[in-house]
Amino acid sequence: MKKAFLVVVALAVMVAMAYAAADVRNTKHNLAKQAASVYKSTNYSEVCIFCHTPHAAPAWPLWNRNYTPGTFIMYSTVTFKADASLDETSKLCFSCHQNANTWSATPLLNNSNLLNNAAPTFNHVNMTYNAAIGLNLKDDHPVGFNMQTFNYTKYPEIYSMAQIAANLGDPQADIFPGGMFTCGSCHDVHGKVGTGGTVIPVLLRRSNASSLLCLACHAK
Ligand code: HEC
Ligand code: HEC
Ligand code: HEC
Ligand code: HEC
Repeated sequence: MKKAFLVVVALAVMVAMAYAAADVRNTKHNLAKQAASVYKSTNYSEVCIFCHTPHAAPAWPLWNRNYTPGTFIMYSTVTFKADASLDETSKLCFSCHQNANTWSATPLLNNSNLLNNAAPTFNHVNMTYNAAIGLNLKDDHPVGFNMQTFNYTKYPEIYSMAQIAANLGDPQADIFPGGMFTCGSCHDVHGKVGTGGTVIPVLLRRSNASSLLCLACHAK
């Protein structure tokens, strides 16, 4: 009896933890018609479909957006240069974040069968100026460089990938997919639940209150 009860409690805790990991439904990335967000579809109730499809996806991670970005201007200063071109993971963000309306104007590769393959329709709210990042990445924190070949001798104040993973409390492979520093090195696109059970603001991996996000990587 007691054992069975404990098993039930343990399972309940595990389920609660699984839900606490992330919930894209409580973020601005929920573009489904029932979402609380101002940016949403007027006909689709599915949430993942705006970014993923279970079949016929030519690109990782089962990507459902029919979009090829232009040429990016990469970060380059006297003290740090990113790679010559942007990594494939960061590129995924730009099918929505390139300009004010790419989020609603980019077609899906596979439309919903629930709606007989009709394309999603959207309310026409333009993305805010700051969220429309454009192709010029010179004025943004550097992304698109390899942390596996990173020059730690030149930048001794950057923590190791393992230490950054420990500081942020996320798997190293999620923070640096294929070893690359991406938009997702600071952001969790699905929303990460922090202490208190709510999604950390601005889809960050760690709240930047007191600059704790910056300090997870920079020993300043
Ligand atoms: C706004 C776009 C967007 C939405 C909506 C979205 N995803 Fe993702 N997803 C991404 C991106 C971008 C990546 C890969 C890069 C990353 O994680 O930074 C990803 C990666 C993944 C991965 C593989 C890597 C990982 O994080 O485990 C899984 C699994 C996944 N998503 C599942 C889902 C499911 C299930 C839903 C719906 C409940 C969903 N996603 C909704 C954009 C989205
Ligand atoms: C399917 C379209 C789509 C994709 C793909 C997408 N986003 Fe977004 N994202 C949006 C929309 C729409 C908003 C709301 C814009 C606004 O508030 O002006 C948003 C908002 C955000 C915000 C602000 C969230 C907040 O709570 O203020 C962040 C951060 C963000 N996205 C990061 C990313 C990153 C990083 C990626 C790639 C890993 C990504 N997004 C991919 C559509 C998308
Ligand atoms: C070094 C960490 C870091 C990286 C890398 C990063 N961001 Fe951000 N991003 C932030 C922080 C911190 C904020 C919140 C800024 C604030 O609230 O003052 C933010 C805000 C945003 C917003 C919301 C802007 C707004 O005001 O509505 C979007 C959208 C966004 N980031 C997308 C991206 C995309 C796309 C990439 C990759 C090109 C990226 N970020 C790379 C740290 C980062
Ligand atoms: C996930 C790790 C990570 C996070 C989080 C992060 N950075 Fe960085 N940052 C780096 C790396 C790696 C570099 C490249 C090495 C360098 O220039 O020091 C860098 C570079 C920089 C540079 C120097 C760019 C140059 O031209 O030399 C500044 C300034 C900077 N980051 C500020 C910030 C601020 C402010 C925050 C918080 C909003 C932040 N970083 C968050 C990892 C991170």
